[in-house]
Amino acid sequence: MRRREFVLGALGTGAVSCIAPLPAFAAPLAPNAIPYGTAIRVDMLSEDPLYRQAVIDYCQVLVAEGAFKWPDLHPSRDSFVFDQADQLLAFAEENGMALRGHTLAWYGAMPEWTETIASREEAETELVSYIETVVGRYKGRIKSWDVVNEPLAEFPKPGALIRESIWQRHLGADYIELALRTTARVDPDVQLVINEYDVEQPTDLGRAKRKAFLDLVRDLKARDVPLHAIGLQGHLRGDMEIDTSGLTSFVAELKSMGLAILVTELDVIDNLLPGPEAELDAMVAARAKTFLDAIGAAARPETVITWGISDRYTWVPIWFSRDDGMPNRPLPLDSDFKPKPLMQVIQDFTRSPS
Ligand code: XIL
Repeated sequence: MRRREFVLGALGTGAVSCIAPLPAFAAPLAPNAIPYGTAIRVDMLSEDPLYRQAVIDYCQVLVAEGAFKWPDLHPSRDSFVFDQADQLLAFAEENGMALRGHTLAWYGAMPEWTETIASREEAETELVSYIETVVGRYKGRIKSWDVVNEPLAEFPKPGALIRESIWQRHLGADYIELALRTTARVDPDVQLVINEYDVEQPTDLGRAKRKAFLDLVRDLKARDVPLHAIGLQGHLRGDMEIDTSGLTSFVAELKSMGLAILVTELDVIDNLLPGPEAELDAMVAARAKTFLDAIGAAARPETVITWGISDRYTWVPIWFSRDDGMPNRPLPLDSDFKPKPLMQVIQDFTRSPS
């Protein structure tokens, strides 16, 4: 599709019809509305009152952008630090929001000391005791955990489906089962989620990820490993089409295996999208709408979370800054917390009747 048709397509759906600020979620949501929320930078909740207010106005569910990762909670082998995590959970509870846990077993952001883990037995002990400590501490208060984050290889190939990590190095793919079973043992009521990205791409990579993901889930199910939901991160490439039929049948297949679907980290990576702002914002919104609609065609996601709420605070420029020097605009509110067409898309989707 050419760029102009793409933009007009978005206009045609009403995706860019919101000029006036949108009413926030402050009004009671219909009982069947899908909870919307954002990843949170805990320090900014106290440092930036506008950010804090936007989060309160729009969100029903939160997740920590850091704060609940290994380096934050377990910076050295003999210490756990819960200050920021506790603070975020208290904020969520004070404001009647759910907090999701992110994440227990991931290849990324591991504290340096974990490099000294030297054997299978030691890896097992560390992973299990971490989960016991962290999931145990928040038992009954955090009801959904990204138990395993990004388990699939960058480009999964037969015989090499699982990504290299400290856990994979020592335990092979068994770390996935161990993490899921341990979390279920510590809190039998918690929703167990595996979270992944790039499954929406219309490329060999996208197809390989979807296949590897289904193979992994089928294998876990066949061995009765507890697993309740799949998190689709949704770090969408603004310049890349969504494989709508591939995504819809992938979600349908997961649903047929009894799994719930969550959208966990939505944003639209816009570094290769042309300006000006209004057109760019329309393209970002249209891309997200296509993604959400393709999922919605097979299953109603239980939540829609964006990886940040305002362009003021986004991880996107760390990896995908723009060559033209313009700031990235991947999120539902602009850097002054004004709603963009993407917020309208999310509100329309989450509030549409099931
Ligand atoms: C990112 C955070 O946004 C950054 O601030 C941090 O430096 C690195 O991690 N997929 C995930 C998230 O599951 O945990 C990542 O978050 C973004 C990609």
